[in-house]
Amino acid sequence: MRIDIITVLPELLQSPLSHSIMKRAQERGLLHVQVHNLRHWAVNEYGQVDDYQYGGGAGMVMRCEPLVAAIESLQAERAYNEIIYLTPDGETLKQKTANRLSLLQNIILICGHYKGIDDRVRQHYITKELSIGDYVLSGGELAAAVLVDAVGRLLPGVLNDETSALTDSFQDNLLAPPVYTRPAEFKGWKVPDILLSGHPEKIDAWRYEQALERTRQRRPDLLEEE
Ligand code: 6GU
Repeated sequence: MRIDIITVLPELLQSPLSHSIMKRAQERGLLHVQVHNLRHWAVNEYGQVDDYQYGGGAGMVMRCEPLVAAIESLQAERAYNEIIYLTPDGETLKQKTANRLSLLQNIILICGHYKGIDDRVRQHYITKELSIGDYVLSGGELAAAVLVDAVGRLLPGVLNDETSALTDSFQDNLLAPPVYTRPAEFKGWKVPDILLSGHPEKIDAWRYEQALERTRQRRPDLLEEE
């Protein structure tokens, strides 16, 4: 899978995508992330990509020309399945969306800044708008990093234990069950006996029960979803 990210702050995206699982995904050639500095397509020699908003009001708006030039230069190279704008008024990112996106070949992510991007770009180029939650970030970069991580880890061959993404929280609309490691007793607190029992079926059943109970307690809304 290839992900092209258009941003005014490419540096902000470097570190989150250069470690651990995202690093491995790229090293294995399963994920290619290319970050593009929008100022490369600026409207003048000062690197301007934004402007005052029509109608007045505080805050700048990202102009059409640089965004469209960036998008079209990428589209000249290959076909894209989605052009996604990261914005707090987008659809909230869920595991199901990450699962679906992980099946695509090429996507573009647009990181907004200031008051956002000129609405004509949203109307004529953007195919999907995503938010990562009900709070406001200074820009779309951290959200883009979250999206790349959520999608990238699902690509076949990225995780070492292929089954481990299947038992994540939110797959099957369930939170993950509690986990324990050595020692079996710490400060008098014991690991549940069942986990030491050596009965795989009983352990699976216990984990499922715990996941269900956790979900009932913390996120009953997940159990309502189809
Ligand atoms: Cl995608 N962008 C910004 N700026 N803020 C957000 C967000 C995105 N998702 C949640 N808050």
